[in-house]
Amino acid sequence: MSILSWDDFEDDEPKQAAQANQPAPVEPKKTTDSQVVSHAQHSSPNLAAAQPTRTNSSRATDPTDPLARASNALENLDVAPGLEELEMGAQRVQVDDKAMINCRADLNQLVPFKYEWAWQKYLDGCANHWMPQEVNMTQDIALWKSENGLTEDERTIVMRSLGFFSTADSLVANNLVLAIYRHITNPECRQYILRQSFEEAIHTHAYQYCIESLGMDEGEVFNMYREIPSVARKAAWGLKYTQSLSDPTFKTGTPETDQILLRNLIAFYCVLEGIFFYCGFSQILSMGRRNKMNGVAEQFQYILRDESMHLNFGIDMINQIKIENPHLWTAEFQEEIVQMILEGTMLEIEYARDTMPRGVLGMNAAMMEEYLKFICNRRLSQLGLPEQFAGVNNPFQWMSEMMDLRKEKNFFETRVTDYQTGGALSW
Ligand SMILES: [Fe+2]
Ligand SMILES: [Fe+2]
Repeated sequence: MSILSWDDFEDDEPKQAAQANQPAPVEPKKTTDSQVVSHAQHSSPNLAAAQPTRTNSSRATDPTDPLARASNALENLDVAPGLEELEMGAQRVQVDDKAMINCRADLNQLVPFKYEWAWQKYLDGCANHWMPQEVNMTQDIALWKSENGLTEDERTIVMRSLGFFSTADSLVANNLVLAIYRHITNPECRQYILRQSFEEAIHTHAYQYCIESLGMDEGEVFNMYREIPSVARKAAWGLKYTQSLSDPTFKTGTPETDQILLRNLIAFYCVLEGIFFYCGFSQILSMGRRNKMNGVAEQFQYILRDESMHLNFGIDMINQIKIENPHLWTAEFQEEIVQMILEGTMLEIEYARDTMPRGVLGMNAAMMEEYLKFICNRRLSQLGLPEQFAGVNNPFQWMSEMMDLRKEKNFFETRVTDYQTGGALSW
């Protein structure tokens, strides 16, 4: 299968125009809403044959006529049932009615904002929009295919990273859409979650784009989360926390179920996105710093920028739930959360040892272990929990710089601007 580029999209129109001269296909072509309207009004030969010219008044009284059935259904439309589920009915939402979880106010009223930070993060996410096809992979393909381009250890790192992340981003996206979206009862946070979900789809797309460009064995990469123990254990740990929430009968509203939701948010935002991504990200970015696999590294750099926003949004959301529901944050529950974050850190250290049996790219498993302990302390303190590793430092200062790309004078800034102007319509 060839890789799509923007040129292919631009080529679409002439191809379609050429097809218009061909005999009509047997399968109906997909059309846009506006096309459907214009066909119905002007040109559908089948409809015209079935419904010879009739006046609107004769159609309106004919119970077999679709138009009569549609207008009859609209006359009998009852607006109450949808609103009855909301305790406050059709009232206008006031800021104080809003809450992160178990809110009974109308969730379709985005404003007035209660959590400005959530809306701001949504805007920041949109301003950072990017697509995987923009990254040039030519040098990576040549390097990957050349016999002595990369060492065996470097190749393992690329394979493992794509293997873990291609699954992990999909786990995160499914958890957002199928598990947590329903239970976060605030429209500005939901707006961010929708944006985040699309970003996760772009990340999965980016991994698929790398895998396809490099001609990797897709089955091997996509099944790594089931076949390679250090990858499988991380995926299994995350999946454990999504199970009860994705049950369609699961409901928040009791201390027990609200704590299940909090555990899920901490597992996904703080551990999966906040710890499990860090070993692989630093390995690939270190490769890019050494001028190897620049295209893959560039894709990971964009992804890391998105992920650091996801993490920050998650931390803000979790802390807000704690403020609004202090009864959930018991000493026992806090102990449990400290253990969860430690478990995540240990799994990531296992992964570091598995992927770096020797020193590679100026790093080794011992340095990565220190880095992960530093990250673990950081996650704990972001949640207001005690740090667990005394005296650890960040051996990879450059990672922090990479996360905040706006500080860098590079092409990322101009691309972001391109999106903002490129996306504007002129009438
Ligand atoms: Fe992601
Ligand atoms: Fe993410």
